[in-house]
Amino acid sequence: MDKNKHRILIFGGSGFLGSAIYKELCSYYNTFGTYRTETIALSKNQHYFHYILEEDDATEIIEAVKPTIIISALRGDFGAQIVAHFHMVEYVKNNNCKLIFLSSANVFDAYSQFPSYEQDKTLSLSKFGYFKIKIENMLLRLPKKKYAILRLPMVFGKHSPRIIEIKAFYKAKEPIEVFPNLILNVATDFKITQQIHYIINRNKSGIYHLGSTDLVHYNDFIKEIAKTLQLKNPILKQVYTTNNDRYLAVLPKHNILPKHLNYRSDFVINELKQ
Ligand SMILES: NC(=O)c1ccc[n+]([C@@H]2O[C@H](COP(=O)([O-])OP(=O)(O)OC[C@H]3O[C@@H](n4cnc5c(N)ncnc54)[C@H](OP(=O)(O)O)[C@@H]3O)[C@@H](O)[C@H]2O)c1
Repeated sequence: MDKNKHRILIFGGSGFLGSAIYKELCSYYNTFGTYRTETIALSKNQHYFHYILEEDDATEIIEAVKPTIIISALRGDFGAQIVAHFHMVEYVKNNNCKLIFLSSANVFDAYSQFPSYEQDKTLSLSKFGYFKIKIENMLLRLPKKKYAILRLPMVFGKHSPRIIEIKAFYKAKEPIEVFPNLILNVATDFKITQQIHYIINRNKSGIYHLGSTDLVHYNDFIKEIAKTLQLKNPILKQVYTTNNDRYLAVLPKHNILPKHLNYRSDFVINELKQ
């Protein structure tokens, strides 16, 4: 593949997903990333830029890199993120560039009675979901070929914050919270990075729902994880938010990826065994 085909800038390139995406793409494309927390390795890396949402102007880094693809994998203050994404969208509008935004199943968290598909109307009751919808709407005003909105359910990779947290609670003999009525699909960074690579390589755009093809009960899934990680008698704290089943699941209907990029929830569990 022509390494010069794309220049890719990953905002949040030091995070769990951002760094996994960087690793997946850097041998194929000219890839750059941002980091907030200083480390010797990152500050020495010519492809990484120090960037703090609340202090720095995203445009300066964008103008320095001149990306053809921007990937947004940031966390941080919602207001500052809105401003940063406004700058990204302005650049994309006026240049040969596409914006890939990591969104969340939470954009549908007001609809609890069924899974959600790409073209469903978003509606959220949470601050986080509402914030993600706001950014999605900024992208949706761009021509379709200039954006990809990737909605992710909960991600459970080996190095994911969720798995690290489960192990830490277990070690400290503290309870792991579980939500008995929650039904969801799940994701792993291993597949997400391949899916993003495919979306870039095939120049795909629009809205994608990237998660397992099947649904799981949160309780059962966490128990399965505990078994796989060989945590003996973990303390599970049942948190009841409703007596009815509640869905937090994003499934594809329109933008279906090829078979080898699809997976079931047991794949996510098996990944933890490696
Ligand atoms: N993980 C999931 O289960 C999941 C599910 C759905 C959607 N998503 C979305 O995927 C994206 C990435 O999530 P993640 O789990 O990879 O998050 P993460 O590991 O916490 O990484 C967040 C990234 O944002 C950077 N960051 C945080 N605060 C910042 C600030 N004030 N200024 C500049 N940079 C800042 C971090 O930099 P440092 O690490 O250098 O401080 C890091 O690079 C997020 O948009 C999230 O909403 C994640």
